[in-house]
Amino acid sequence: MWNEIDQYMQHWIREAGERIRDTFQTKLTIETKSNPSDLVTNVDREIEQFFIERIRETFPTHHILGEEGFGDELRALDGIVWIIDPIDGTMNFIHQQRNFAISVGVFADGVGMLGYIYDVVHDELYYAHKGKGAFMNDTPLPKLKETTISEAVISLNATWVTENKRIDPSVLAPLVKRVRGTRSYGSAALEMAYVASGKLDAYITMRLSPWDFAAGLVIVHEVGGIVTNLYGEPLNLLEKSSVFVSKPRLHQEILTEYIMKER
Ligand code: IPD
Ligand code: CA
Ligand code: CA
Repeated sequence: MWNEIDQYMQHWIREAGERIRDTFQTKLTIETKSNPSDLVTNVDREIEQFFIERIRETFPTHHILGEEGFGDELRALDGIVWIIDPIDGTMNFIHQQRNFAISVGVFADGVGMLGYIYDVVHDELYYAHKGKGAFMNDTPLPKLKETTISEAVISLNATWVTENKRIDPSVLAPLVKRVRGTRSYGSAALEMAYVASGKLDAYITMRLSPWDFAAGLVIVHEVGGIVTNLYGEPLNLLEKSSVFVSKPRLHQEILTEYIMKER
């Protein structure tokens, strides 16, 4: 069954990507949601509906959690659950027409089975099938190799080292000073795909929704990486959370030397 779902999905996600690329020449309808930086376009909505129509038609017993609200109202993770972010990085999609991705995770009773992160502009599909490996297009992604903190490139938004309501800026500032470099791409899904493919060594952020991290969780696990909240606890797929993604030893070191030290 998982191979069958995977075959459908490989096809659907590339078709969805083509639809997104086709909109680059059209005028977007842009609206704001919870705040002026929380954006949604007609394309986000159309792509979510595209997936939901196909999933409901092909797998009528599956459940769907979608960012734009066209899926089901989920209170539990029983059965097969698809978690969909039709465009992760909508601000980038609007302002840059790059640095965004389609992100879809498929779970069985809460266990991540399949994960897809499609960088539409570069035509790069990161995906994983639990126990069967992770890939970027047809190239297998190797298991992660450890890095020291001083040689690490980590992804972290400047928000978390300036005055903000979720974390004391002095917790992560010393880490920013110590690492080789910091980056921020504005798409949680891509940042997780970059950790899974060794382009980044870690990713730390204070507030994500399940659709931001669902696919990334499956892909990062498959290459031996760790995905937790900031404090090293497992993520709940039905709640918003901080997210800390890294190679195992680096995760432990950052946790003990920086995050827990200040707690
Ligand atoms: C956003 C991106 C961004 C993260 C935000 C998310 P969206 O997703 O993943 O990197 O910092 O918290 O909401 O709204 O573009 O799908
Ligand atoms: Ca998102
Ligand atoms: Ca989105």
